Amino acid sequence: MKTPHVVVETDATGAGRHAARLVDEAIRTRAGIVLGLPTGASPIPMYAELVRLHRESGTDWRGVHTFNLDEYVGVGPDHPRSYGYYMAAQLFDHVNLPSDRRHLPDGLARDPEAEARRYDAAIKAAGGIDLAVLGIGVNGHLGFNEPAPSLTARTHVAELALETWRRNFKDLAAEPVPSEHPPAPFRRAFTMGIGTILQARAIVLLATGEAKRDVVREALRGPVTTHNPASLLQLHRQVTVVLDRAAAAD
Ligand code: GLP
Repeated sequence: MKTPHVVVETDATGAGRHAARLVDEAIRTRAGIVLGLPTGASPIPMYAELVRLHRESGTDWRGVHTFNLDEYVGVGPDHPRSYGYYMAAQLFDHVNLPSDRRHLPDGLARDPEAEARRYDAAIKAAGGIDLAVLGIGVNGHLGFNEPAPSLTARTHVAELALETWRRNFKDLAAEPVPSEHPPAPFRRAFTMGIGTILQARAIVLLATGEAKRDVVREALRGPVTTHNPASLLQLHRQVTVVLDRAAAAD
């Protein structure tokens, strides 16, 4: 176990820029790099900076492979709530990354188990993830590996924690939910497994905003437990944590 390197920037934009510089430098230094990429609100400033660096400094994405952490089951990349759509809007439409090098699980796959196996095989064929950029849920989830008594190593279909669903779909969640399970749609998602995430050669965890403060502190300093999946990052040797002041405990 090695203490992670923690960087604290003033605000979410600064944290995003910092993470972008780490990714940009990795692309420039390692030809054919394989990236693991997150979605959510936190990485939006990072993608904006990556696009700027591509435009203004000419960072070349032609040899890069990207594998997203997750995708909702039942939606394709044309759906505005899909992560495929998000990635096109935030990054793919603005850099010279060939379309056959952009990888996300296929939310419309007829056979989800086969799709999960296909995704793992594609990651393996690319040589594994060199640099995984991760966000974190307020409950410590990574991708959609939600807190649970046990976690799954490889890509699989996960059910969202109700808390996660409420946070990701604030508009749909305005009505009371009659059970502890999130309602369809967007109840289930493909997620890269925790084993694949931990096998990344290097990891950048990006967390911003006060809502992440407690869970980040627990993940970095608390016990290693599947009830806070991000705490498993304590087992990894090459983690950089990029925070803004609001997310930094002290
Ligand atoms: C989502 C994604 C995660 C992401 C997290 C944080 O549910 N599945 O991969 O890291 O939530 O999102 P946000 O940055 O919007 O708080």
